Amino acid sequence: MLRPRLTNPMEEKTPKEIVEALDRYIVGQHAAKRAAAVAIRNRWRRRQLPDAMRDEVSPANMILIGPTGVGKTEIARRLASLVNAPFIKVEATKYTEVGYHGRDVESMVRDLVELAFHMVRKEQTLVLKIEAERRSEEQLLDALLPVSEYDRSVQDADSDAAARRHRNREKFRTQLQAGELDDRMVEVSVTTKAAPVGMMATLGVDQMDAGVQSMLESIIPAQTKTRSVPIREARKIIFEQQCDELIDKEKVTEMALRRCENSGIIFLDELDKLAAPERAHGPDISRQGVQRDLLPIIEGCTVSTRYGTIRTDFLLFIAAGAFHDCKPSDLMPELQGRLPVRVELEDLTRDDFIRILTDPENALTKQHVALLGTEGVKIEFSKDAIVAVADMAAKLNQTTENIGARRLVTVMERLMEEISFTATDRSGDTIKIDAGYVTEQLSAICEDSDLSRFIL
Ligand SMILES: Nc1ncnc2c1ncn2[C@@H]1O[C@H](COP(=O)(O)OP(=O)(O)OP(=O)(O)O)[C@@H](O)[C@H]1O
Ligand SMILES: [Mg+2]
Repeated sequence: MLRPRLTNPMEEKTPKEIVEALDRYIVGQHAAKRAAAVAIRNRWRRRQLPDAMRDEVSPANMILIGPTGVGKTEIARRLASLVNAPFIKVEATKYTEVGYHGRDVESMVRDLVELAFHMVRKEQTLVLKIEAERRSEEQLLDALLPVSEYDRSVQDADSDAAARRHRNREKFRTQLQAGELDDRMVEVSVTTKAAPVGMMATLGVDQMDAGVQSMLESIIPAQTKTRSVPIREARKIIFEQQCDELIDKEKVTEMALRRCENSGIIFLDELDKLAAPERAHGPDISRQGVQRDLLPIIEGCTVSTRYGTIRTDFLLFIAAGAFHDCKPSDLMPELQGRLPVRVELEDLTRDDFIRILTDPENALTKQHVALLGTEGVKIEFSKDAIVAVADMAAKLNQTTENIGARRLVTVMERLMEEISFTATDRSGDTIKIDAGYVTEQLSAICEDSDLSRFIL
């Protein structure tokens, strides 16, 4: 059994190691990677401090500043998955000031806890998988070969009959394991869980007191129905039920809360939208309010959730925004102070594009090769083709709108369109994509900037 861990092994890695791990996925943006790595390490350092000292040290929450498509979200997301941290991305514009209709900022913490709960539950499922599978198999066999009262009485009396039944069961087991019985129908009982959350959401009550929510859940009775389903599906249903039974809910809840508190990351996108500079008609009251509501959460407070209360002291906040027509200094001074680390991300160049196309673990060209590989078509990109695509993307970003690395996706889609469409008929082929092919497919569109606005 896995023991709950309070510290996270990845957080114990040095910033240099974290940056190296990020390098596998993200090209360039060295400053942002360093800041992210330091923030993770700082959280670990802060936790080592004596209590009194710890309260004095503020967490290294940060703002990533940069245009669209340069990797802000990607860095935060990768960082979170590297350190196995519960992570959510929220749009700052989605929230409203407490007292107004809409979601209040505390709900982002509740969402994070919800996510952590499912994350831990999934891990526990992996731990218990073998036992749950064993029990599911027994249950399926019981469903296939119901044991009647008569059988039971015979079993005591006549060991021959019992032995026969045992042989029979083992025969079914072999068939079951080989998947030969997948289409056979069996009866399973399914419990439909009470769903007050969904119910209340449809009533328009989005944020319910956590206590009320769990109370409702316990009041509304669960309904059990018997359904006849093929074994293929029954296996999944029963497996889930067995997991539910085996998993210690309280322990999962506790682990989820602790994991959130100690390593949760909230990515607060579009922060710049809250920082609209004062215009002629004055600042937007509600946005100011959201900023004010954010202060305690970022600084550290207690939020109550349906799983229990959680302290937000060690949550890491990574805010992001383009800050085109405003500056971080347009934020409320208190909020600026709570997001002390500022990093600017660089515009991506043509050379970055070349690397983005080929280097990362899941680089775009690798994705296309793998996708078409499933059709039995082998794709080979030549070096000059990559350069041509990068050139074109860089040029399009200049002449039309700058959408950063996302441009590569649209250009590649267009480039592969013809091959994607015909691939099913070309199984066994090897297709070489060189600069000539790129020009042939794309130059007509690329040269006509009106056309490229629509297509690329
Ligand atoms: N430096 C980079 N290296 C590798 N891939 C990148 C890089 N920057 C962006 N990408 C790719 O481009 C896509 C968009 O990036 P991302 O979502 O991080 O943009 P963003 O900076 O958050 O933009 P926005 O402000 O629009 O949210 C990602 O799917 C990612 O794969
Ligand atoms: Mg983003």
